[in-house]
Amino acid sequence: MAEAPSSPSGPDLAQGVPLQDLADGAMLAGRVGDEAVLLVRQGGELYAVAAHCTHYGGPLAEGLLVEGGVRCPWHHACFDLRSGRPVRPPALNDLNRWSVEERDGRVFVGEALPEELPPRPAAAVFPESVVIIGGGAAGNAAAETLRRERYEGPITIFSADSAPPCDRPNLSKDYLAGTAQPDWIPLRPDNFYAEQRIDLRLDTRVTKIDPAKRTVTLADGSEASYGALLLATGAEPVRLQVPGADLPHVHVLRTLADCDALIAAAGSARRCVVIGASFIGLEVAASLRKRKLDVHVVAPEARPMERVLGPELGDMVKAVHEAHGVAFHLGANVTGITKDRVRLSTGEELEADLVVTGIGVRPNLALAEAAGLAVDHGVTVDAFLQTSAPGVYAAGDIARWPDPITGDDIRVEHWVLAERHGVFAARNMLGQKQPFAEAPFFWSQHYHTVINYVGHAEKWDRLEIDGDPAKHDCAVTYWRGDRKLAVATVGRDLDSLRAEVALERQAAG
Ligand SMILES: Cc1cc2nc3c(=O)[nH]c(=O)nc-3n(C[C@H](O)[C@H](O)[C@H](O)COP(=O)(O)OP(=O)(O)OC[C@H]3O[C@@H](n4cnc5c(N)ncnc54)[C@H](O)[C@@H]3O)c2cc1C
Ligand code: FES
Repeated sequence: MAEAPSSPSGPDLAQGVPLQDLADGAMLAGRVGDEAVLLVRQGGELYAVAAHCTHYGGPLAEGLLVEGGVRCPWHHACFDLRSGRPVRPPALNDLNRWSVEERDGRVFVGEALPEELPPRPAAAVFPESVVIIGGGAAGNAAAETLRRERYEGPITIFSADSAPPCDRPNLSKDYLAGTAQPDWIPLRPDNFYAEQRIDLRLDTRVTKIDPAKRTVTLADGSEASYGALLLATGAEPVRLQVPGADLPHVHVLRTLADCDALIAAAGSARRCVVIGASFIGLEVAASLRKRKLDVHVVAPEARPMERVLGPELGDMVKAVHEAHGVAFHLGANVTGITKDRVRLSTGEELEADLVVTGIGVRPNLALAEAAGLAVDHGVTVDAFLQTSAPGVYAAGDIARWPDPITGDDIRVEHWVLAERHGVFAARNMLGQKQPFAEAPFFWSQHYHTVINYVGHAEKWDRLEIDGDPAKHDCAVTYWRGDRKLAVATVGRDLDSLRAEVALERQAAG
C-alpha cells in the first residue's frame, strides 16, 4: 500500500482552533503530535479522525462529507466519522479516532480513542456456517465483513489460487512497474485469517455445488457442507486463439503468479507486444515502459477504450501512452505469433520477445450453471445478491444484479464493486436485508494520469464533456435519454465523488 506523508502539517489541533473557523460541513487537516488528524464539523457534531485513508493513504480533507461519513477522493472508500469504521471498500481498516472538546469557542482534539466494535446483533438467525468460493476481492471482503458484524460461526474460503487474497489492481500498476513493495500486495498479513478464525484453503478448487444438500465438492472428492454459500469465482482471461498463442513468451495477467512470471520474463526481454488496448493491456504497457521495454499495442478498434469511455477520452489515453513512447497498431488483429514475431491482419510483422494478451475476461460461471442456478450472462442475483437458490449468494465479476441507477440488470468487472458486493452479501447472509444500490466505481492509471469512473454506461446515446480531456482536466457524463448513467473524470476527484452521490440519490428517487 502507498504510504501517508510522514510529517503532518497544519495547525496543532491539541492547542485548539477557533470554532468559528470551522463552518458546519467543513474539514480541517491538522496534527496532534506526530499524527495527521482531520477535524470535521458536521450536523452540529465534531469529529477527529486520521487524515489519511487506510487504503492507499488518500488525503481525506480533499474528499467529501456525506451523511455522517467521509469519502476518500482517490478510490471512493467511505468511513463512518463517529466510529472510524470503513463503511465502503476499498478501505479495509478503521481510521484512528481522537476525542474532541469545545471550550470557550475553541475546539481541542484530545486523546486517541480505542477501536469501537459494532454492537453485537440482536438475536437473529445466523447461518450455521459460511462457505465462500473464491479468495479474491469479493470473497475476502465477505469473510472480513462477517467477522466485523460479529458472526461467530465457521467461515471457510476455498480458493483455487495459490496466493492469499491480493491487491489485484496493483498487479498491472506499481507491482508490475517495480515501484511497489512486495508486502503491499497481500490484502492482509499472513496471520490475519487464522486470527480471525477464517479457514483460508488455498489451491483448493470447488468442482460442484449441491444447493439441495447444501454441500460443495472439492477437487480431491471431499465434501463440505454450508449454512450459507457465497459464489465469488471471478473471471479468467480470454485466451487468444491464433497459431503460436500457447508459446511460453505469451502471457496473460490475472493472478500474482501470472504477474511474477511476467516480471521474470520482462527482466530479459527487449520488446513487448501487448495485444488488446483494454484497461489491463494499457496499464501493462505503461508498467513495462517504466521497465524500459519497447512496447507496441495492437488492437482492432480505432481508439483505445473508445467503447467504454468514448472517443475524446480514447484519444487522451492514446496520446498519454504515445508521449511515453508506446507505439499503437490500431485497426489490426493478430493472426499468428512466433518466438520472435507477431503477425497482424494488416500484413505487418512486429518483433517481440514478450507478448501480453489483454483481450478481456470471461466470468467463471460453470459451477453456478452446473448447480442449476439461474444464469444469464452472469449469475442472476436479486437486490440482496441472493441467487435463485436459497442461502446461496453471488458477488463480484460473476454477479448480474438489478442496478437501480441504470434501471438495468448489469454485471461489472471492477475491484471496488466486487468488494462492496462481498460486504453486502455478508450482511444479507446475517439477515440485514440491505439492497445493493451503490454506484459502481473504478479507476485506471496510465503513468500520472488517473481516470475515475462512477456508474455504468454499457451503451449511451449522448455524452457531455465539461473541461478539456487533452489537458487532463475534464468530466465526461454519459446519458441514455434523460437518465444519467455514468461520469468519468480526469483530474477532478471531488467531481467524481459528487457524481457518485448524485447517481445514488437519483436512483433512490
Ligand atoms: C491485473 C488486473 C488489474 C486490475 N485493475 C483494476 C483496477 O484498476 N480497477 C478496477 O476496478 N478493477 C481492476 N481489475 C479488476 C478486478 O481485479 C476484478 O474486477 C476483481 O478482482 C473481481 O473480484 P472477484 O472477487 O469477483 O474475483 P477475483 O478477484 O478474480 O477472485 C476470484 C477468486 O475465485 C477463485 N476461484 C475461481 N474458481 C474457483 C473454484 N472453482 N474453486 C475455488 N476457487 C475458485 C480464484 O482463484 C480467485 O481466488 C483488475 C484486474 C486485473 C487482473
Ligand atoms: S486511497 Fe482512499 S480509497 Fe484508495
